[in-house]
Amino acid sequence: MTNVINNFKKLFNGNPLFSVVTPGRVDLMGSHTDYNHGYVVTMPVDLKIECAFAPCEGDILTLHSCNLDTLVKINVTDGAQIEGDNWGKYVSAVVKVLLDEGYALKAFNGSFCSSIPIGSGLSSSAALEATVNAILGKVSGFEIDKKNSALLTQKAENVYVGVNCGILDQYSVIFGEKHKVIKLDCRELTHTLVSWPKNIMVAICNTNKPRTLHGSEYDERRAQCEEAVAVFAKMDSNIKALRDVSIEFFNMHKDKLSDKARKRAEFIIQENDRTHELEAALTNGDVDKLKDIFARSFNGAKDLFEISNDAMVHMYKAMSTATGVVASRQAGAGFGGCMVSLVYADKLEDFKKDVIKTYKDLTGIECVVYGVHTEQGTHIENI
Ligand code: GLA
Repeated sequence: MTNVINNFKKLFNGNPLFSVVTPGRVDLMGSHTDYNHGYVVTMPVDLKIECAFAPCEGDILTLHSCNLDTLVKINVTDGAQIEGDNWGKYVSAVVKVLLDEGYALKAFNGSFCSSIPIGSGLSSSAALEATVNAILGKVSGFEIDKKNSALLTQKAENVYVGVNCGILDQYSVIFGEKHKVIKLDCRELTHTLVSWPKNIMVAICNTNKPRTLHGSEYDERRAQCEEAVAVFAKMDSNIKALRDVSIEFFNMHKDKLSDKARKRAEFIIQENDRTHELEAALTNGDVDKLKDIFARSFNGAKDLFEISNDAMVHMYKAMSTATGVVASRQAGAGFGGCMVSLVYADKLEDFKKDVIKTYKDLTGIECVVYGVHTEQGTHIENI
């Protein structure tokens, strides 16, 4: 936090009054289950945004990013971006959504640094949205509960950024808790906390391969899942989403689906079941089961949901053969970006070395591996 406080002082010639921290997140099971009204086992992590801020006079908020050393200026009465970098769209989107809800907003000055790698599947944009939402509430004198904060920041992303994401990212970064992972019910918007085995750490492995065609492929997967639901709903009117389809029902009626819709639906139904399997394995301390649950998830993501690419296949090989590995799979939307492994804590450094070397040998690309811990969701403190 010292860093952002000093940046604030230099930029704004005064002292910040508050700090806000928002984690990134990595999903441990449940790829693309969120918009299918299913479950996700998700972990808010200590790759995070830290921001120092203070209210200011006038209608223009100024926010500085130390990572890019750029700033954005947004009018808090209409959400218009007056000045600054492209990432201002996330800030402006949150302002607009809050204005739509009827909140009167006050301006602020802020400076943040983020250790969440940008655009690599760890919710860097949701973390920024949740941070801005919390700051605006604090300086304007209102408080929105966590569930509505998650819904409003998701709406900001959907309506004003134009990305049709589910609730996973915003919910995770707002509801995080230390020492626990979250099992999120994306239909009810509730969660249970799952305890974490002490001797196992989570390692995030960044393929450092920019995600390609991400937006359009994501929308296509959503449409294919909806196509399957439309067919099944004609047979059983209780089916509103793939969450409502059992594997037995699917197997009985799968020949009525197009090839693509069948593969997508099969993955989602199995992946959703795996969230329950993972919860049970973690709760009962069945470490032996983790490898297989994660492997089925990765293979389904590759062969059925088809969100894998060459970099991810090479990374999977590097992760699965590294010292100390327990289990490995994809993370986020797929199509490159970050992947995730569970690793024996005392072997983390050996794991990192092995993954970096094998992945470099296979791809020529230098990757980054982060050992991460759970982190509390968006929280504000006085400075
Ligand atoms: C992206 C979206 C989330 C979720 C994941 C896949 O991160 O933003 O809503 O759909 O992909 O699980």
